[in-house]
Amino acid sequence: MSREDSILVTGGAGFIGSNFVLTWIREVGSTVINLDSLTYAGNLNNLQSLSENSKHIFVHGDIADEELVGRLLREHKPRAIVHFAAESHVDRSIVGPGAFVQTNVIGTFALLQAAKAYYLELSAEEQQQFRFLHVSTDEVYGTLEPNDPAFSETTPYAPNSPYAASKAASDHLVRAYFHTYKLPVLTTNCSNNYGPYQFPEKLIPLMILNGLEGKPLPVYGDGKNVRDWLFVEDHCSAIRAVLEHGRLGETYNIGGSSEKANIDVVTTICDLLDELAPSTEIGSRQKLIAYVNDRPGHDRRYAIDARKIKQELGWEPAERFESGIRKTVAWFLANQEWVENVRSGAYQQWIETNYAERVAR
Ligand code: NAD
Ligand code: TYD
Repeated sequence: MSREDSILVTGGAGFIGSNFVLTWIREVGSTVINLDSLTYAGNLNNLQSLSENSKHIFVHGDIADEELVGRLLREHKPRAIVHFAAESHVDRSIVGPGAFVQTNVIGTFALLQAAKAYYLELSAEEQQQFRFLHVSTDEVYGTLEPNDPAFSETTPYAPNSPYAASKAASDHLVRAYFHTYKLPVLTTNCSNNYGPYQFPEKLIPLMILNGLEGKPLPVYGDGKNVRDWLFVEDHCSAIRAVLEHGRLGETYNIGGSSEKANIDVVTTICDLLDELAPSTEIGSRQKLIAYVNDRPGHDRRYAIDARKIKQELGWEPAERFESGIRKTVAWFLANQEWVENVRSGAYQQWIETNYAERVAR
């Protein structure tokens, strides 16, 4: 591209997006234009270490604002768009699905429209380089029985929650822009992430913070639902690999080959807290585990078959669950100021909404 080499990241103030921005600037070193509307999940404190870094240009705005996106693309001429921005929490999608359709479907549509208009203005050489990378989830594939094979790129879509359905819709739009308009797209479908900067409404940070304070640890249903956990920096390295070497129009599943039942994740966190932050007042954290009413339509099991990305791009996760979860617990213990900032009014309100009805069983 004629200007300085740059990429446009959407949702770069959220959990995975901010990890991606931080690792991109560290590993690749080119400029990131970061477009984020700063919903409750967006947090500029995640990017505090870049506050003096001219490689990070933050823009407060909505992906559904096609005119704004068009302006940013023409001004900075990025060689890629990496699209993280989304409403991302299944439980919130059950309570209020409208925001999920607005951002994940309408927002992605507006972004694709702006990207297409920009792409058509590029020279042939610039078009060759340009990529639109759409970050999606394994939840689009629905749920697995205990002995089913893991999700592959050819598993039929069968989304079960409003979140998964809205992500599936966005995946279909991205696919259509490749087939119809030849927009050079790539899609990644990743399993559950964990790590630094995760908003504490999701399982792992919620359990770490509640356990630290001696509060109940609410496990939905029988605690035997299974997720395939991936350390967030491994997700970021996979996205970089797909961006550089992925085949246009293809989808790549990303996973950690770390299937765990929720109750096993929670007991691991309890034991790590007892070791790293012992408290005579609280005692054994496992005593805090409280089984509560299940999530409606709760998917039983997710598992990723990540052979394609390994075979085609040579990507594999660097972190094992045991080491990644230890790092994550240690990170939350060492970053109490970040935690306090995040647990604002909006977070408290959500805890009341989600857990008031989930009486202990
Ligand atoms: P997150 O909720 O932590 O962050 C989302 C970010 O997008 C926030 O910074 C928010 O302010 C921003 N945003 C929301 N609506 C916006 C809008 N209309 N315009 C601009 N910005 C907006 O989510 P996350 O966990 O970091 O997930 C990022 C992406 O990865 C999502 O697309 C999600 O579907 C996907 N994904 C997440 C996981 C996971 O385990 N968290 C796994 C696989 C895929
Ligand atoms: P979550 O982190 O919300 O991710 P997802 O729904 O996208 O998989 O939840 C992970 C698993 O943990 C899921 O099976 C639901 C369960 N869970 C609980 O048991 N208790 C909780 O308080 C939360 C938030 C989740």
